[in-house]
Amino acid sequence: MAGNWKMHKTVGEAVALAAALRERLDGAEGADVVLCPPFTALAAAGQALAGSRLALGAQDVHWEPQGAFTGAISAPMLLDLGCRYVIIGHSERRQYFGETDTTVARKVQAALGAGLAPIVCVGESWEQRQAGQTESLVRGQVAAALDGLDADQVAGLAIAYEPIWAIGTGRSATGKDAGEVAALIRETAGLMTAPTAAARLRVLYGGSVTPDNIAEFMEEPEIDGALVGGASLKADSFAAIVQAALAVKA
Ligand code: PGA
Repeated sequence: MAGNWKMHKTVGEAVALAAALRERLDGAEGADVVLCPPFTALAAAGQALAGSRLALGAQDVHWEPQGAFTGAISAPMLLDLGCRYVIIGHSERRQYFGETDTTVARKVQAALGAGLAPIVCVGESWEQRQAGQTESLVRGQVAAALDGLDADQVAGLAIAYEPIWAIGTGRSATGKDAGEVAALIRETAGLMTAPTAAARLRVLYGGSVTPDNIAEFMEEPEIDGALVGGASLKADSFAAIVQAALAVKA
């Protein structure tokens, strides 16, 4: 269960949210809970979470470990701050920052090489869905992201199915539709490596997840968790989402 805070929260606000979530969720056994603050708040949020069950994640990473890449942040830098996860290929990065399947693959390899667990985002636009292209597009994005990875690496990944039209719109996918795409993500991963690795791969749903609709997604056998944007910015709603998810999977 991952919270993507996007470009929200100053350091002070991030520490307050991390501390509030720690209080509510540190006892939430059975769930891997990941908070992804902006880069500027990673260090402080990490300190607020130190010694807890809650993990820290970043929202992007560069593929090189260091170098002349003004404004970029590398995997070793994220590890140094205590990050264990990193979101890669979010549709907002693809749409506004020139992220491509090629850069996603490089970033996935860099993250895994450094010991960070990638949360790779895939998903179609509304036009692509209407045109019946969801399956081919998602399969292509998954194949590109997993290119060259071995079975153990694939088993350590999370892939988030995030239909672009559902992100931040209040219009989530149905559980059934999301479950179908989750199944084809797992199938694609299995064809590329081994079914045993694909079975361990974690598939998340993201896009307008709330405390009220999370159960619908978690009830789908192929969906293991969620990547939550807007509803992760408040302790009460994110904690309620995690608790509701646990109640379904328990
Ligand atoms: P949302 O964002 O929950 O606000 O729709 C999800 C995401 O972009 O990861």
